[in-house]
Amino acid sequence: MRILVTGGTGYIGSHTVVELQQGGFEVVIIDDLSNSYAGVVDNIEKITGVRPGFERIDLSCEEKVMDFFLRNNGISGVIHFAAFKAVGESVEQPLKYYRNNLLSLINVLKGMEMHGISPIVFSSSCTVYGQPDMLPVTENSPLKKAWSPYGHTKQVSEEIIANTASVTQINSILLRYFNPIGAHDSALIGELPIGIPNNLVPFITQTAIGKRECLSVFGNDYNTPDGTAVRDYIHVVDLAKAHVTAISRLMKSENRQKVEIFNIGTGNGFSVLEVIQSFERISGQKLNYRFAPRRPGDIEKVWADTALANHVLGWKTEKNLDDMMASAWKWEKSIRGKYE
Ligand code: WQD
Repeated sequence: MRILVTGGTGYIGSHTVVELQQGGFEVVIIDDLSNSYAGVVDNIEKITGVRPGFERIDLSCEEKVMDFFLRNNGISGVIHFAAFKAVGESVEQPLKYYRNNLLSLINVLKGMEMHGISPIVFSSSCTVYGQPDMLPVTENSPLKKAWSPYGHTKQVSEEIIANTASVTQINSILLRYFNPIGAHDSALIGELPIGIPNNLVPFITQTAIGKRECLSVFGNDYNTPDGTAVRDYIHVVDLAKAHVTAISRLMKSENRQKVEIFNIGTGNGFSVLEVIQSFERISGQKLNYRFAPRRPGDIEKVWADTALANHVLGWKTEKNLDDMMASAWKWEKSIRGKYE
């Protein structure tokens, strides 16, 4: 069973390639390396002993994507991660995001349609819900107007997939991630933010290791127990395993609709301060942080209702917050001095 993983040298993609290979799948990666490094392929091989196929292709180029599918006619399924994902950058450069994220998906779907490939697992995001009215948020919760072009590309991508599946052989599972954090136990792969991290956990570990001076906690006046914003943090390995479960479900035709949607979170919400306290607990060191104004575009609180993923998809998380923070800290220490 050969699976195409687009964006497979990225953070979630690389962890998913490892789990796919350890689940017996053959993998070929397409990535444009715009937000990752080719050396990730070497580290995947170090973990699993098997080198995945790799081609550096810009998926927004239709000709190159069609050529790939012509040369690789043994693809049984696709897991599509490839997309730009910096929320703030998407606000400043919307066309860059709409062009890349939507054209890449369209070209992959066209290649699948032309070659009779059915299963695709799509990397979606809880950002499609905006600030839910009710918590925990379920898959039937209304989608609100996206707070960024990035979030909008995820909403539009879901609709592109649904409308294409309804008139082709394509079947899809949309996984709506909450907040992926942490790293593989080997500390050979993990989150590699280029430049100043947007996300909380890499900023915490870079502050702790001395790369950053001080963590700014964006807002402590939210309507939450300690005033800081709440998110559903999920270990990236738990998230990767959900993709293996999902592609297997499609390949065995166990899906009940042409398009199925699952929230992939832990079902627990943690505040920024609770994440900091977890880090201090597992590392044994105090973190240097200060309270700062709220970050524009942030929602106050969100966590997942995971009943569908648990009982229909047959997947659930295994790692807790301390596990996640311990793996993130181990990873930060392992890359110290590299990737500058
Ligand atoms: C988490 C919390 C911040 C940095 C985004 C995307 C989502 C997904 C994950 C791609 C918030 C606070 C952060 C800092 C802070 N991306 N924070 N100081 O914004 O929930 O989700 O990334 O798929 O789609 O929307 O994640 O890690 O940026 O922020 O206080 O230096 O930490 O305000 O409350 P977010 P995040």
